[in-house]
Amino acid sequence: KLSLHSDLHIRPLASTDYRRGHLDVLRVLTVVSDLGEEAWVEQFHRQRTCPDTYYTLVVVDKTTDTIVGVGCVFIERKFLRGNGIVGHIEDIAVDEKQQGKKIGLRIINALTAISERKGCYKTILNCSDKNIPFYEKCGFEKKENEMAKYA
Ligand code: ACO
Repeated sequence: KLSLHSDLHIRPLASTDYRRGHLDVLRVLTVVSDLGEEAWVEQFHRQRTCPDTYYTLVVVDKTTDTIVGVGCVFIERKFLRGNGIVGHIEDIAVDEKQQGKKIGLRIINALTAISERKGCYKTILNCSDKNIPFYEKCGFEKKENEMAKYA
């Protein structure tokens, strides 16, 4: 099984992770507005109020106590497939300076393992063409298309 460099540690998101630069890592992905720690903690607890739904993992650099990678899988409950459940992988990001060290792969493996352990019949995600080779390396294959309508 793939393991991380010994300075790195993978664990669930904690209520104090605002201070470890959680939002800074997400900035490699898209526009992030920093609403301050109180608003961050509120959102953390809002996710917690949905039991067995949001699983966010972070990779922490123990030498600096900062977050260098993040990812989430959320569990959708369907009426089809015998009330089946689906894991949606979202918001994967690795600090620019730490990319290419298998951190992303480790996060995807861990999120997929959570999804499968919960009993999801599939785990899916959307990505740009540029990231297709990365997800193929993680064992995913291209299926169908993403459609989006922004407000
Ligand atoms: N093209 C080709 N191969 C790639 C690419 C790429 N763009 N990115 C990674 N790989 C390969 C690596 O070379 C490696 O292959 P190897 O095992 O043969 O050496 C394998 O994929 C695993 O790569 P990692 O080192 O684990 O990748 P990394 O830690 O850099 O994480 C990630 C990849 C998450 C895409 C990172 O580069 C990143 O944060 N990018 C910016 C944000 C982003 O695009 N996030 C994903 C959005 S999609 C979503 O969130 C569902």
